[in-house]
Amino acid sequence: MRAGPELRTDRLVLRRWRDGDRGPFAALNTDPVVMEHFPGPLNRTKSDDFVDRIEAGFEERGYGLWAVEVSDVAPFIGFIGLNPATFDAPFTPALEVGWRLDRAHWGQGYATEGGRASLEFAFGELGVDEVVSFTTVRNDRSRRVMERLGLRHDGDGDFDHPNLPHGHPIRPHVLYRIDRAAWESKA
Ligand SMILES: CC(C)(COP(=O)(O)OP(=O)(O)OC[C@H]1O[C@@H](n2cnc3c(N)ncnc32)[C@H](O)[C@@H]1OP(=O)(O)O)[C@@H](O)C(=O)NCCC(=O)NCCS
Repeated sequence: MRAGPELRTDRLVLRRWRDGDRGPFAALNTDPVVMEHFPGPLNRTKSDDFVDRIEAGFEERGYGLWAVEVSDVAPFIGFIGLNPATFDAPFTPALEVGWRLDRAHWGQGYATEGGRASLEFAFGELGVDEVVSFTTVRNDRSRRVMERLGLRHDGDGDFDHPNLPHGHPIRPHVLYRIDRAAWESKA
């Protein structure tokens, strides 16, 4: 069992999940704007199952999609963190950086701030050589976070997500990457 560290930034605490996060997480998982680029909203059971899988990942690896708290502002706004991508694609297995925040907290730079801390952890503590991120082609907000963090779009790596059915409108995905050299030159 690995409890894993909390990550702290100027404004955020990236921490393990608490039972009190489950209600607000289920609420944001039913917001159609938050879930626009996913197959659909998650009901409470599916949202709780997702939290269980995230927490099992922390127990196994010591890192994952951290619950995000904004110091002195909000006890829980969503998740930011690292997730091993294990589905079948030319670039997997790979370590993915990702985020999902309550719409009330968009536009503040929180995803970028927490994403930077996650990359620091990946290249530092974990010692990986590369981190990827991917999303549906039209998820411009998420793509902007990737670009602000220094990830670069790898057009040759764009792929159809194997967990979505053929012909599904959000099946085509863009792949972004950052390797250790690019991260170190940016830092
Ligand atoms: C993707 C998502 C996390 C991005 O949220 P976001 O608030 O746009 O991203 P950031 O937290 O990095 O904030 C950046 C915005 O805050 C603004 N900002 C304000 N203060 C800032 C600060 N101190 N630092 C940086 N940016 C700041 C930036 O100008 C930028 O706005 P802009 O994109 O309109 O120019 C959010 O849209 C989301 O949760 N979407 C639904 C889930 C999802 O699609 N996840 C990705 C799936 S792969």
